[in-house]
Amino acid sequence: MARILHSDPAHLDLLAHHLAAGGIAAVPTETVYGLAGHALEAVPVAKIFSVKGRPRRNPLIVHVSDWEGVEAIAHVTDLDRMVGERFWPGPLTLILKKKSTVPASVTAGLDTVAVRIPSHPLVRALLRRCSFPLAAPSANPFGYISPTRPEHVETALGPSIDYILDGGICEGGIESTIVSLLDPDEPKLLRQGAIGLESLEETIGQSIRLSTDAPGEKPTRGLLSPGLMERHYSPHTLLRTFRGSLPKTGKGDAIVFLNAASCRGAHHFALSATGQLEEVARNLYDRLYRLDEKGYGTLFLEVPEGDGLAAAIRDRMGRASASP
Ligand code: TXA
Ligand code: MG
Repeated sequence: MARILHSDPAHLDLLAHHLAAGGIAAVPTETVYGLAGHALEAVPVAKIFSVKGRPRRNPLIVHVSDWEGVEAIAHVTDLDRMVGERFWPGPLTLILKKKSTVPASVTAGLDTVAVRIPSHPLVRALLRRCSFPLAAPSANPFGYISPTRPEHVETALGPSIDYILDGGICEGGIESTIVSLLDPDEPKLLRQGAIGLESLEETIGQSIRLSTDAPGEKPTRGLLSPGLMERHYSPHTLLRTFRGSLPKTGKGDAIVFLNAASCRGAHHFALSATGQLEEVARNLYDRLYRLDEKGYGTLFLEVPEGDGLAAAIRDRMGRASASP
């Protein structure tokens, strides 16, 4: 069983020492919990892959506390800086040319590294205590739902990790937006998130191609995709999505609506009280974790319409319900 740590400075010191010594731990971010370890050391990086059961060809995101931290591990162009300055600290991951300090195991042999300055106060307090960057993929077994509460991490990975830093529920609820500006003439959105395509395009003053083929997000397609599966973020229970009219359910099934006003029966659940998208995103994975324990036959999940955050939520729901 993992030990739960809190914002107490003594706990943060203990955790920073544990990480410096090559240990790993689950830590909260504003998006989802991450499984963190010293990004420049082989042992913790190997532990992260093995605890998650993650294929080695799927690179890790590296978290740093400031621009100095970014520049210690990657080359930053003016365009990267423009976007980073607008959205960091926050739920944005930039794909940058890596420096030689970053081991090939972190980047799965790619010459690029995914970098993020998170905004969650607890992970920031921890990063400030560490003199090194933290590699941290979502703290779930590979392919399963990303955790947004310490209990989720405990359920899925508890026996394999020593510590969970308790930051309560993650405000954002879905993983960061991933952007690559490596080719300045062809900016790409590799994963949708709370920071929408439109606000990114506005920031850089050019259009961005939606190309959700970050290595962990889609099957093999060209160089950007060392190759994985489309199914991701999935509960064990069979999941189906619907929009508009009510799905035809059988005995033992449940329906998860966007808005509590749609609930009519015992096995009807809602992702938000009013259908507000931020609340839907925040509650999505928590709802899936909790319903996955109930033994339902099929969960029917209502998908939101629209772009921005709605598109990111729809993307996660689609992947969670993709066939194995
Ligand atoms: O919000 C988040 O980003 C969370 C929190 C913990 O920061 N982290 C997260 O990590 O979602 P993970 O490992 O579950 O997803 C990272 C994604 C994977 O799809 C991976 O393939 C992609 O980022 N990625 C990592 N390095 C990359 C690179 N150099 N080029 C392209 N994609 C990369
Ligand atoms: Mg993940």
